[in-house]
Amino acid sequence: MRLTIYNGSPRGKASNSEVISKLIEDNLHSDIVVTKHYIKDVRKHSEIIKDTSDAYFAVFPLYADITPYAVKAFFERMEESKETYKDKPIWFFIHSGFPEAKHSRLLERYLKYFCKLIGANCMGVCIMGSSEVLRGLTNESKRMIKINKNIKGLANNISNSKTFNSKSIEYFKGMEMLPKPVVYIMKLFPNIFNKGFDIMIKRNGAYDKRYDKPYA
Ligand SMILES: Cc1cc2nc3c(=O)[nH]c(=O)nc-3n(C[C@H](O)[C@H](O)[C@H](O)COP(=O)(O)O)c2cc1C
Repeated sequence: MRLTIYNGSPRGKASNSEVISKLIEDNLHSDIVVTKHYIKDVRKHSEIIKDTSDAYFAVFPLYADITPYAVKAFFERMEESKETYKDKPIWFFIHSGFPEAKHSRLLERYLKYFCKLIGANCMGVCIMGSSEVLRGLTNESKRMIKINKNIKGLANNISNSKTFNSKSIEYFKGMEMLPKPVVYIMKLFPNIFNKGFDIMIKRNGAYDKRYDKPYA
């Protein structure tokens, strides 16, 4: 079987999506022929769409509660070429910075709807929270060991043209929502939880503008 992997991260090869796609690739059965495309550059979409396959795996992060821009633009290309995807299996892996799976539920619904729209078979949407740290994990870390184990399950499903198994989906889901006491503490001490973001916006000279509402 030929499998095309779409990496939809704006970070391309330096992304957490890349970590996931590599793990999937490494665990596929040896008879699966893989092609990988980075879809962050919309100028390449018309070339990428021409490269057809028997099956597709798409991995991308949650951006502002939905897909990154280039992913949505690419989906529109897919819709224009929907005969390419008709009756073909597509597996999705979406991941987010926030730990709660709930953030990705709307996108999950959209992806299932999108597959119906283009006539493809949605073979599962795997959701993962707290993905920002992925690139920094060592193979020996406890989290990576568990990720590896569960990725094997997903890669097996893809290799066998099966829907994603519920055990792995459940593992990657982690928590649907943060426990109420944690939310309470976050509200009490927002500075602790905002620290990472504050460092980034300071680095980009935007700290003074952090309360701006350009679209309000
Ligand atoms: C512009 C931007 C928007 C983001 N929006 C969200 C969001 O709405 N919800 C969320 O949980 N994480 C959000 N994140 C975090 C990313 O989903 C997370 O860092 C992810 O691991 C990035 O994956 P990548 O390295 O494959 O691009 C956002 C990150 C950026 C840079």
